[in-house]
Amino acid sequence: MAGKEVAVLLLLAVLGCGSGEKVLVWPADNSHWLNMEHILQELVARGHEVTVLLPSCFLIVNPTQPSPFQFEVIEVPITKKEMSDFMDKMFYFFFNEDRKIPIWKSTYKIAQMVLQMKNITKIICDGVVKNEALMERLRASAFNVLLADPLFPSGELVAEKLGIPFVYTFRFSMGNTVERICGTLPAPPSYVPTTLTSLTDRMTFWQRLKNILGYALHDFVFHYVLWTSWDQYYSEVLGRPTTLCETMGKAEIWLIRTYWDFEFPRPFLPNFEFVGGLHCQPAKPLPKEMEEFVQSSGEHGVIIFTLGSMVHSLSDEKSNVIAKALSQLPQKVLWRYKGKKPETLGSNTRIFDWIPQNDLLGHPLTKAFITHGGTNGLYEAIYHGIPMVGIPMFADQHDNLVHMVAKGAAVQVDFNTMKTQDLVDALNTVIYNSTYKENALKLSKIQHDQPVKPLDRAVFWIEFVMRHKGAKHLRPAAHHLTWYQYHSLDVLAFLFTCTATIVFILFKCCLCCCRRCGRIAKRKKE
Ligand SMILES: *[C@@H]1O[C@H](CO)[C@@H](O)[C@H](O)[C@H]1NC(C)=O
Ligand SMILES: *[C@@H]1O[C@H](CO)[C@@H](O)[C@H](O)[C@H]1NC(C)=O
Repeated sequence: MAGKEVAVLLLLAVLGCGSGEKVLVWPADNSHWLNMEHILQELVARGHEVTVLLPSCFLIVNPTQPSPFQFEVIEVPITKKEMSDFMDKMFYFFFNEDRKIPIWKSTYKIAQMVLQMKNITKIICDGVVKNEALMERLRASAFNVLLADPLFPSGELVAEKLGIPFVYTFRFSMGNTVERICGTLPAPPSYVPTTLTSLTDRMTFWQRLKNILGYALHDFVFHYVLWTSWDQYYSEVLGRPTTLCETMGKAEIWLIRTYWDFEFPRPFLPNFEFVGGLHCQPAKPLPKEMEEFVQSSGEHGVIIFTLGSMVHSLSDEKSNVIAKALSQLPQKVLWRYKGKKPETLGSNTRIFDWIPQNDLLGHPLTKAFITHGGTNGLYEAIYHGIPMVGIPMFADQHDNLVHMVAKGAAVQVDFNTMKTQDLVDALNTVIYNSTYKENALKLSKIQHDQPVKPLDRAVFWIEFVMRHKGAKHLRPAAHHLTWYQYHSLDVLAFLFTCTATIVFILFKCCLCCCRRCGRIAKRKKE
């Protein structure tokens, strides 16, 4: 065969043409969907059929609009309005919190919010597993794999009930509990920091103590607050005694949305794949008007500013503090914001409803990115090598920015105590102190220099699971051990007992000998 033909055949094999397998999707809303969508589009491009299980209260997708995916709408008695109100409530809950509250308090508050979310999740889950007609339809479709975002449970339950393998894709769970406890991902607390502690991989004695307590607290909340009632629910639905964690632990592959440009080096398992930045692409040209505005900045360049898709408006006071800071800079600023126009808005700042964030971050005139620290935006900044000013608000955002600050590519500003000068200083630091730009470029090089692109790796593993009906050869035997077996506590206890027995016997023997010697010596003296 000629080289060319071989190449074409290889290409066909790689693209999986003609295989046309069926993928069922259990998505999570908002930014989580935006990331997953890239994987789904790639699956469709490779000839697979993608069906998304979409609750009728899902906000970011409208199933009636044309789409490359098919939708199975789960009718639930929650309206989109109720859902978005709940999201806003959750957002303001975190938004108005003092950032310096102790970890136990923040964990408790987050647990409260998740309990409410649990009720909603249960309603949605009921809408699938207790809807016989829908389940029958799904069974008849004979899906090859289910791709789930485990932000909230249920995806794995649907997969188990349908008897198909499933793959997870997400950034992390609170305290890494799902990965650690259910996925048996090793996390030595001496150098793998847990979430919400703002710790890095270099810890002092007291920080390591804090980290261990952080893990313990997360485990407690996981076992006794968040997931308790799910065990019973899962057992009922599957008709055999099981737990949520056992079911989650059956995930064939875990696609984690970070990479070693972002993560601190840590141990991981062969069924964990780090695919952060899979949505990043080279910048496309900007709309004409926007390009003109960017070009008008001249040598000073532009700053991109967004606090994410969930921040619709700020208080007047805050928006004026921010606008005033921006107005003092020589750069032009593009601010994505839907709230009221601040009075102190400078002539160098323009407000947009929406911005092509990736294209702007990839523009040669872009000097800095002001971000809330969501993973999607962070990765676009890493990809294009743009230094950041982080204003974290909630969820994983603090944690994300701790990584970026530790890697020297970002400066963090506290949203609640922020003054105009703080923001000006932070921006001047990342723009005029060249170490931030250099570090951002270093991360960018790590992101670009990979043997296989993250999106291709993600899709490869999903296709692998479809071809082989799972990836059981990657599954560690840790899943079959109890916690004391896992830590070898039973073996240690046995060894300790043996040692103690031997020491005791030796001690007794010595004592005996000594006494006998003593007696002989005494007799000799006499
Ligand atoms: C969740 O649902 C249960 C039972 O329906 C109810 O008693 C509880 O108040 C709900 N909790 C929240 C936080 O909405
Ligand atoms: C630039 O920032 C680095 C890291 O924070 C710091 O060590 C260095 O002193 C700064 N350089 C200048 C010129 O301020």
